[in-house]
Amino acid sequence: MNIIGTGRAHPSLTVTNDMLSTFLDTSDEWITTRTGIKQRQLISHVKLEDLAAEACHNALKDAGISAEDLDFIICSNVVNEYITPSLSCIVQGMIGATCPCFDLNSACAGFIYALDIANSFFKSKSDINHILVVCAEEPTRMCDWQERSTCVLFGDGAGAAVLKRGDDFKSIALSSFSSIDPLYQIRQLEKTPFITKEEFGGPLVMKGQDVFKLAVNASLNDIRRVVEENGITYDDVDYYLLHQANIRIIETIRKSLDQDKVKFPHNIANYGNTSSASVPILLDELNRNQTLNRGDTIVLSAFGAGFTAGACLLKWSKN
Ligand code: COA
Repeated sequence: MNIIGTGRAHPSLTVTNDMLSTFLDTSDEWITTRTGIKQRQLISHVKLEDLAAEACHNALKDAGISAEDLDFIICSNVVNEYITPSLSCIVQGMIGATCPCFDLNSACAGFIYALDIANSFFKSKSDINHILVVCAEEPTRMCDWQERSTCVLFGDGAGAAVLKRGDDFKSIALSSFSSIDPLYQIRQLEKTPFITKEEFGGPLVMKGQDVFKLAVNASLNDIRRVVEENGITYDDVDYYLLHQANIRIIETIRKSLDQDKVKFPHNIANYGNTSSASVPILLDELNRNQTLNRGDTIVLSAFGAGFTAGACLLKWSKN
């Protein structure tokens, strides 16, 4: 499997740390030093599906193919306004594709899970030539905006990648272990006359320090697996593109691997944590600003609620 096109879309509203401190007991200094985030793009008047479709259009254009050429669409999404139909069905119609599609929810690790499924499709279905993966997320709609320890972390956005048959992807490692307490959100479903259990819903709940440790451990473990599987060393990897959740998580992982800062490009300062969209958004930035060179060895790694995590190792063959 090869990546032949990337795309992204952000909402137009920029919310700076200073803007947050007008209604929250926080400061630019606290958010910057604890997270690396300076601003984030927030959904205001657009819908998530608009961002998703824009990211798909950009990825298709970059790949030089049209929506009719797609054989499958996989959409990674945690929440959007529709419970049903799936976001992938909505986006399929918006971009004019006719292929089968489905959503997956592996929280912030969704891009890696989608890549693994796409890779398996290429191996098992001979009639599949092009797959579109789109990660579209609005985590800012999950937060309590009076809760300074969560709402300052997130931003909304969409990232997409067009994949075709090939052998650039060398290894993908996924890991999941049930650990709900550190990061969850419960929603209240409609009542029926038969419900007798107590039910409630509410905003995202997070134990930040627990998530921090789980993230570092899971990411390091997945990266080690894909690097070892290829018989190479951490030094042989040109770029590590990590889930953009906290610059301190990225730095902790970088230091553990004893690698140079330049190998860990990041954009968290501009966008915050955009959940599963963060890795494809970063990938698209680096593709478009021509940071990535043909033949580069790249590791992608992400982690999220569940707890879910995954990493993959690929050769970059796109010009
Ligand atoms: N502004 C100012 N102060 C804040 C704040 C904010 N936005 N958020 C929390 N604080 C306060 C806390 O109330 C606490 O105050 P106290 O010492 O008086 O109790 C203090 O800052 C330290 O809080 P703590 O939670 O220990 O900070 P931290 O260094 O662990 O940083 C996170 C908090 C959330 C930034 C950090 O734990 C983190 O990034 N965790 C991972 C989160 C994540 O990645 N989630 C998504 C995974 S996909």
